[in-house]
Parts: sequence; structure tokens; C-alpha cells
Amino acid sequence: NYFAIIMAGGVGSRFWPASKASHPKQFLDILGNGETLFQTTFKRLKKIIPAENIYVLTNAAYVEMIKEQMPNIKDEQIVPEPAMRNTAPSILLGTLKIHKKNPHAITLVAPSDHHIKDEEKFTVAVQQAFDNVEEKDRLITLGITPNSPNTGYGYINFDTTDGTSIKKVKKFTEKPTLKRAEKFLEDGDYLWNAGIFVWSTKFILKCFREFLPEMESLMAKGEKFFNEKNEQEFLEEYYPQAENLSIDFGIMEKAHEVFVIPVDFGWSDLGTWTSLDAQLPKDESGNLLVHCRVLAEDSENNIISSKNKKIIVLKGLSDYIIVEDDEVILIVPKSEEQYIKNLRGKVIDEYGKE
Ligand code: GDD
Ligand code: MG
Repeated sequence: NYFAIIMAGGVGSRFWPASKASHPKQFLDILGNGETLFQTTFKRLKKIIPAENIYVLTNAAYVEMIKEQMPNIKDEQIVPEPAMRNTAPSILLGTLKIHKKNPHAITLVAPSDHHIKDEEKFTVAVQQAFDNVEEKDRLITLGITPNSPNTGYGYINFDTTDGTSIKKVKKFTEKPTLKRAEKFLEDGDYLWNAGIFVWSTKFILKCFREFLPEMESLMAKGEKFFNEKNEQEFLEEYYPQAENLSIDFGIMEKAHEVFVIPVDFGWSDLGTWTSLDAQLPKDESGNLLVHCRVLAEDSENNIISSKNKKIIVLKGLSDYIIVEDDEVILIVPKSEEQYIKNLRGKVIDEYGKE
């Protein structure tokens, strides 16, 4: 009764312009190891969960890309969302489908765009979480020791006096301001939310009923259609009506029975350009080059990417992100990388393309 939901419908907008709506980062070979992030994720989960129990939640626009990248996957395992509504509605939809199949299901929810170095440790932590939620009604997340006041993550304040390996969460704060993130780091009793969740479908559905009752009743209307011919029609009519909300803001910040397993398996979110810093080699000046040739003088610690393999020439420019893509050339200081998401939005508004 182990199932998984892979969340593969995001745009990866902080990785723009390499990642974009027409081809998000999870379907790119970002690390240059011959596999897309989605393929790596599926392979990792297949070791713990029967392949036929792994559901991929994604935007309808990416269904073909998923079939190409994972040819053995069955149609019913790909759940196409007709609109982007963030992770709460998506996880609810996947959960209802799994619940219909097996009301005793235990589900792992995983993003499709992470790097995990030590898969063995990952497996051990997930198994531990599975065993725990089989016995107890709780939401378990995996927690990473933070090393910077990154505002792109959820922060988990946990009970340090709890001697067991699964710790009670006192407070979950999604994407705090920089000031608060700095304070959290100082305080020390915080972990980053890895965005990997484990729970029983029964209990998470109870949480949806409690904290997002409108969303729950909207989607539950479709239960009778799931896995049937009319499912698509139902989704097209109802899914876009769901509130645009992440599971972190919608459930994790509000729920009571939240627990965290601190993990240390070489996790990286690959959420922003600088997350590549820890994964890929740099030249002697600390410049990280992705698919490009560079001539750099007095220029250090830049991240430089060129889709069309241009020769990028720099003089006196340091700590920048420089990305050449088909339509756009982006030049932004590393310190502003969270803002790339907003810039992408502005470019779309102004020029109608990305
Ligand atoms: N199916 C589907 N539909 N998937 C989605 C959607 C959607 O509308 N929106 C996002 N996703 C997918 C993304 O592709 C990614 O794999 C995952 O859901 C998480 O979404 P992100 O947009 O990457 O979230 P985040 O990085 O800002 O924040 C989350 O992850 C952090 C760790 O990486 C939160 O859970 C944070 O608390 C956490 O620290
Ligand atoms: Mg992310």
C-alpha cells in the first residue's frame, strides 16, 4: 500500500530563462548527467515504491514530455491538470485518486526537481516515515540543516528536547522574510523543509477537510469520475476553480500533527541558479559555466549559461548570473536571484514571451 505523488507541474521560474513554461527545469538535464531531473526522481522512488503506484501530477501541457521521458508509465499514472494552481490542489487531486484505489494507502509526496546525493540514506528515512505514519495519524516531512537564510524555503521549528529520531514540529513557516530567516538561523532549532512529505491518504484528506474545506469539497465532487472516461471533463470544469495555493501555506503551516525527520543525504533543491554552485565544478576564478565557453578577466564567481553555446566575454563583472537563451539574455546579480521569478513575469507582461 505504498504510493507516491511526484509533483511535476511547476514552471521553475527562478531558473528562468533556461526553465520556462514551455519546458520547465524538471524536464531538463540541468546537471548534465544524461538524465532529466524528473527521470532521476522517478528512478529514485521506484526503488522504494512499486512503479505502477507512482503518480505524476503535472500540467496537461507536459503529458507528452513525461511519456517521452518515461515510456513505460501507464496513462492512468499521469494526472493532467488543466490549470496551474500550485501544489495544494494538485496533491489533493492525486490523493483522492490514490485513496479511491486503496483507502489504506501510505503516500510519499516528492518534488521532481531535487538532487539527492546519498540515495541509501534517503531510502532509510522514507521507510522510517512509512512505518511511523502507518501507526499514527501525522504529517511527516524531511528536514535539512540550514546553512544560509534562504527565503525560498519552509522553516521548521522543531522540539530539540525530543530525543526520538522523528521530532515534533512546533511551528512551520513557509518562505519567511530575510529578517526572520536570519533570526531562525541564529536561534538554531530550525530545519529547512525538504518538500518531501509522508502521510496516510486518510489523514491528509482529513487535514484538507479541516483546513481547506472549500478545496476539498470542490475536488471531492470528482471522486465518482476518477479513473473513468469523464474524469477529464470534470477536471476541466472544476480544477481551475480551486484556490491557487501551496501545500506549505495551505496545510503545513496550519496542521497540528506535524513531525520532522532530520536528514543528511546531500539534498539540494536546484531551485535557483546558485543552487548549481554546490553541484557543478567551477573554473579557477570561481565561475561556473553551463554549456558555454567563456573569456573572463577580473571576473569571479559568476554563473554563466548559454543555451546556444555562445562565447561569453566578461571584464570586471563578479557575482552575477548570466544566462543566454533563445529569446532572452538575463544578467542579474546573484544576490537578487529570488527576484528572477518577478522579472520573468514582467517580461511576459511586456513582451508576451519568455
Ligand atoms: N503538479 C504540479 N502542479 N506540480 C507543481 C505545481 C502545480 O501547480 N506547482 C509546483 N509544482 C511542483 C514543482 O515542479 C516542484 O517539483 C514542487 O511542486 C514544489 O514546487 P516549487 O514551486 O518548487 O516549491 P518551492 O521550491 O517554492 O517550495 C517548496 O519546496 C521547498 C524545498 O525545495 C516548499 O515545500 C518549501 O517549504 C520547501 O522548503
Ligand atoms: Mg522548488
